[in-house]
Amino acid sequence: MTNLAGKSVLLVISGGIAAYKSLELIRLLRKARTEVRCILTKGGSEFITPLSVSALSEHPVYTDLFSLKDESEMGHIRLSRDADIIIVTPASANLMAKLANGIADDLASTTLLASNKPIFVAPAMNPEMWAKPSTQRNIEILRSDGVQFIGPAAGEMACSETGLGRMIEPQDIFDALQSYFKLSTPLAGKRALVTSGPTYEPIDPVRFIGNRSSGKQGHAIAAALARAGAEVTLVTGHVSLADPVGVRTLHVETASEMLDACQSALPAHIAVCAAAVADWRVENSADQKIKKQTGASTPSLSFIENPDILAEISKSPNRPDLVIGFAAETQDVVKAAQEKLVRKGCDWILANQVGKTDNPVFGTDHNQVTLVSRSNCDEWPPLSKKEVAARLVEAMISHFNDTGTKHDDKPISRPLSSAS
Ligand code: C5P
Repeated sequence: MTNLAGKSVLLVISGGIAAYKSLELIRLLRKARTEVRCILTKGGSEFITPLSVSALSEHPVYTDLFSLKDESEMGHIRLSRDADIIIVTPASANLMAKLANGIADDLASTTLLASNKPIFVAPAMNPEMWAKPSTQRNIEILRSDGVQFIGPAAGEMACSETGLGRMIEPQDIFDALQSYFKLSTPLAGKRALVTSGPTYEPIDPVRFIGNRSSGKQGHAIAAALARAGAEVTLVTGHVSLADPVGVRTLHVETASEMLDACQSALPAHIAVCAAAVADWRVENSADQKIKKQTGASTPSLSFIENPDILAEISKSPNRPDLVIGFAAETQDVVKAAQEKLVRKGCDWILANQVGKTDNPVFGTDHNQVTLVSRSNCDEWPPLSKKEVAARLVEAMISHFNDTGTKHDDKPISRPLSSAS
């Protein structure tokens, strides 16, 4: 299976004799189990038919910005949003000029302008057109706008002239896309487990003991891991956040339920325990709502210790290669984190100070953490929780690169879907 499997590509085919090569590219992508949606410009449809494009891509072909049918089926915004990348093959001088200058006068150019996805272009044109100062200026603009060029190649053109401007071969475009996905998904093949949010420990069917965790940090870590290509299971307590896109999310309430869900998600290569798990649960929780009785004594609760999920994961026979915990402390943060790291048997702890009035952490979008490992202590500047997540994932990627624990070294047999 290639790393293009399951990806979604929006292919824009503009007018040029090389348009026929796009058909081969669609075939290669479909063979690699890539979802392919196509936009054919008016010029493109002079060279290949919508019927062949739609037959090969197994989807309707989109051609017209103002066609009610196209917009009702899938508008130009959704076309770009649903794709992981957009690739223009062939990219004509005209379409590149429009893209460089923000012109949106048809479905292809409007979709490109509205896109928030990486754009690749495979130019194809006569060598004189390619060399023209106007085209070269547009190429400069497109490059500085982040558009990535695949080709063109040099050689004999359909017009029998020779020079730079031939569209690169479909197999080479396919290989370039594969390299892109490999680079952009450095954790592809890794399975990750993340815990997030608070646990609720019932007192009776309506009351519980909870805490102030918002789940923002854990959810951001799960999303960042998924963006890096990991297969992520997020086990979360009650939060008011949406499930992160592309992450299998299991909702739990109590610490015991969280432990069960975590164990069902093992084996994994990475575990990040960001949940604020209640240390104790109510031993004498009631099956029925405890009634208030005027004059009667107030109920007294007795507590029993909850399982320590981080410690359980660390000593599990399926121990992940990298186990990461959090330590929210009100004082001596780093020292407490170092002790916790040893006591719980994990590899890294992200330590942060809570309870400061100028840095409340719980519920906010910011965090200031120190990454503590057995040999190191790295204090990070104040960052948003999303930035902390991205930086943590970067640290994981370096860790796996340094230790050489590639995913193929340690295959995991159980498929993701078999966990509940
Ligand atoms: O001991 P303390 O609660 O400070 O430990 C914090 C770390 O341990 C966090 O990573 C938290 O997610 C994890 N933890 C856990 N299970 C518990 C208590 C804490 O996984 N019962």
